Amino acid sequence: MGDVKALEENFRLQNKSCFILGGSGETGQLLLQEVLGRRLFSRVTLIGRRPLSLQEPESGELVQEVVDFEKLEEFAAAFQGHDVGYCCLGTTKAKAGADGFVRVDHDYVLKAAELAKAGGCQQFHLESSRGANKDSSFLYLRVKGQVEADVGALGFDRFSVYRPGVLLVDRAESRPGEWLSRKVLGALRAMAPTSMAIPIQTVGRAMVTNTLLQPGAKTEILENNDISRLGAEGGGP
Ligand SMILES: NC(=O)c1ccc[n+]([C@@H]2O[C@H](COP(=O)([O-])OP(=O)(O)OC[C@H]3O[C@@H](n4cnc5c(N)ncnc54)[C@H](OP(=O)(O)O)[C@@H]3O)[C@@H](O)[C@H]2O)c1
Repeated sequence: MGDVKALEENFRLQNKSCFILGGSGETGQLLLQEVLGRRLFSRVTLIGRRPLSLQEPESGELVQEVVDFEKLEEFAAAFQGHDVGYCCLGTTKAKAGADGFVRVDHDYVLKAAELAKAGGCQQFHLESSRGANKDSSFLYLRVKGQVEADVGALGFDRFSVYRPGVLLVDRAESRPGEWLSRKVLGALRAMAPTSMAIPIQTVGRAMVTNTLLQPGAKTEILENNDISRLGAEGGGP
């Protein structure tokens, strides 16, 4: 933990700014808490489709940009001048239909990444999914794999992909299929660590801790076990 504290101190001195996409979602809210609680950035911008009521008041350090994701290029200014971008955006086929799912999980994410890159962003951290594969016959995994590949091709100085398994969370919204997976995998996890599921807090913490590190390669993929290790309480490098 001592090492993490030293890395945080050093990071703070660099006065970096970040934006978060999907900050109203389950992972995004926890990621925001991590980012604010650890005071790593001189400015944090939430980019979303609706204004959020925040515990912490908006200030020079925390700002919100409300955008229309169907016309993102008209909101290019929101993506200007950030050092780091976090993306926890996503929907489901059940909620948005197949086309809507592709639109959000691929098109919106890619467009946002393009605008961020054009605006000078150096690092992009993308929450994807276990099993993401652009050649998969499953729509969900194919779209996740495709967006990883397309964002990767933009050439960020650093592109980090997180592939968590089932997110263990008491979700506000009802998702019956996910609920069953969570119950089964949550019970298994209580007996032994599993590569299939992960507490959602761990994902947010891992994405932030990983930002402090300097990977050897420009693109890195963190599988569920990597995320668990990095996001463990008191864990880190
Ligand atoms: N659920 C799992 O077990 C699991 C496992 C592995 C990976 N993942 C992936 O991890 C990511 C985060 O998951 P999560 O469960 O934390 O997400 P979540 O709670 O469903 O939140 C999704 C976020 O995306 C935004 N969003 C959804 N539809 C949108 C639209 N049409 N236009 C603009 N914004 C939209 C939401 O904004 P609003 O609040 O405005 O709706 C919210 O901020 C997703 O990409 C998901 O596929 C999930």
